[in-house]
Amino acid sequence: MADGHRNALIVGASRGLGLGLVETFLKRGWTVTATQRKPSPELARLSSDALRVETVDIDDDGAVAALRERIGDERFDLVFVVAGVATQAHDPIETVPRAVAAQVYLTNAVSPVRFAEAFRDTLAPGGTLAVMSSILGSVGLNEAGGWENYRASKAALNTYLRSFEARHRDEGLSILLLHPGWVRTEMGGEEADIDIATSVTGTADVIESRLGETGIAYLDYTGKTLDW
Ligand SMILES: NC(=O)c1ccc[n+]([C@@H]2O[C@H](COP(=O)([O-])OP(=O)(O)OC[C@H]3O[C@@H](n4cnc5c(N)ncnc54)[C@H](OP(=O)(O)O)[C@@H]3O)[C@@H](O)[C@H]2O)c1
Repeated sequence: MADGHRNALIVGASRGLGLGLVETFLKRGWTVTATQRKPSPELARLSSDALRVETVDIDDDGAVAALRERIGDERFDLVFVVAGVATQAHDPIETVPRAVAAQVYLTNAVSPVRFAEAFRDTLAPGGTLAVMSSILGSVGLNEAGGWENYRASKAALNTYLRSFEARHRDEGLSILLLHPGWVRTEMGGEEADIDIATSVTGTADVIESRLGETGIAYLDYTGKTLDW
C-alpha cells in the first residue's frame, strides 16, 4: 500500500457476498483478484482493468497451490476467504449423512485455514487476512440452536483461526473473523434481515477502518465485537 493504492484477493466471488465485496472494493478504488469455481457471468459483468478473475476450489489443495504459484510476488492488503456452504443446514445433525456433514466441515473450517496458511506470505506489511465466519459460529451466543452442522463448522473455523493466529503471533498478522449479518443471498434466503449492499458496505468499512491493526478480532458488519 506504499502509494496509497490497495490490492485485495477475494475468494469465493462468483455470487452473493463475495461478488458484492468485489464490486464494493472496485468502487472504492482497490484493485481486486476475485476467484470463482466455474465461470460466473455476474463476475464477468464487473470486468475492468482493476479486476483479475482466477479460478480455484478451496477444497482442492492442488488448485490452491497452483493459484499460489500464479500469484507469484504479488502482495495484497486484504486476503478475504468468503467461500462457504450450508448444505442441509436445517436438518438436525443425526439426520445429516456423514459425508455431507464432513464436507460442510471441510469447506467451512478446514479449507479456509489451509488457504490462509498457503497465502499468508502474500500479505503486504500491515495487510489483513479476513475469513467469513458467522454469528452462528459463536458457542456463547448459541441460545436458540438450529443450523447445527453449519454452526459447528463456523465454530471450528473460529477455533482454527485462533490457533493460526497463535502459531504466527510473532509475524504480527491482522486477522478478522467476520459476520456479515443475515443477508438475502442464496444461502441467507429471501426472509433475511438485510440486502447484500448493506452487508458488504458495512463489512468493507470495518476492514478499511482496521487495516494494519494486529491480532485477531471476531466482528459483525457494523464493527460490533461478538462473543466467542
Ligand atoms: N448470507 C448470510 O446470511 C450469511 C450469514 C453469515 C455468514 N455467511 C457466510 O458468508 C459467506 C458467503 O455466503 P453467501 O450468503 O454469499 O453464500 P452463497 O450465495 O451461497 O455463495 C457462496 C459462495 O461460496 C463459493 N464456494 C462454495 N464452496 C466453495 C469452494 N469449495 N471453493 C470455492 N468457492 C466456494 C460459491 O461458489 P459457487 O458459485 O461455485 O458455488 C459462492 O461464490 C459464507 O462463508 C457464508 O457461510 C452468510
